[in-house]
Amino acid sequence: MEKLSIKTEFTSYDTLEELPESEREILLLAKKSLENSYSPYSNFKVGAAVLLSNGQLIGGSNYENASYPLCICAEQTVLTTAANLHPGVAPLALAIAIRNPRQVISRPGLPCGACRQVICETEMKYKQPMHVILQGETGPIFVFEKGIDLLPLAFDQTFL
Ligand code: THU
Repeated sequence: MEKLSIKTEFTSYDTLEELPESEREILLLAKKSLENSYSPYSNFKVGAAVLLSNGQLIGGSNYENASYPLCICAEQTVLTTAANLHPGVAPLALAIAIRNPRQVISRPGLPCGACRQVICETEMKYKQPMHVILQGETGPIFVFEKGIDLLPLAFDQTFL
């Protein structure tokens, strides 16, 4: 018998000013993109933005449906949009921003499990780690160097 453990490392920045400029730009687009959120059911706005290896920046937001399970998360919107607008171009970084009109969230918004799986699939597809940049409406900014750090022991194509 052997006890194993998993360690995840990430960087926490106290302010937007402290964040490296290229990452700040992606996060600011994610914050702007949440204004496009279509979320009449949850009223929870999520914005996401990706920086592609060709320098393009793309934003997206969550898109809800009266048939609740059909709600599409912002991360999935932006990653699939990027893949269709710029096929074959790897995302280098993904930022996620949130706004909850019922309370100011001052800790980083975390991607749901399904989005973590989609982020990992994208990293595998392009063989390219993606920085994941997270902030609440205010408060610290977490930066993970790779999406897989948010979903250790992920299921992937190597099992198929
Ligand atoms: N949502 C996202 O867009 N991304 C996540 O990672 C978590 C949840 C959206 C889905 C739904 O529109 C709203 O937030 C509330 O769950």
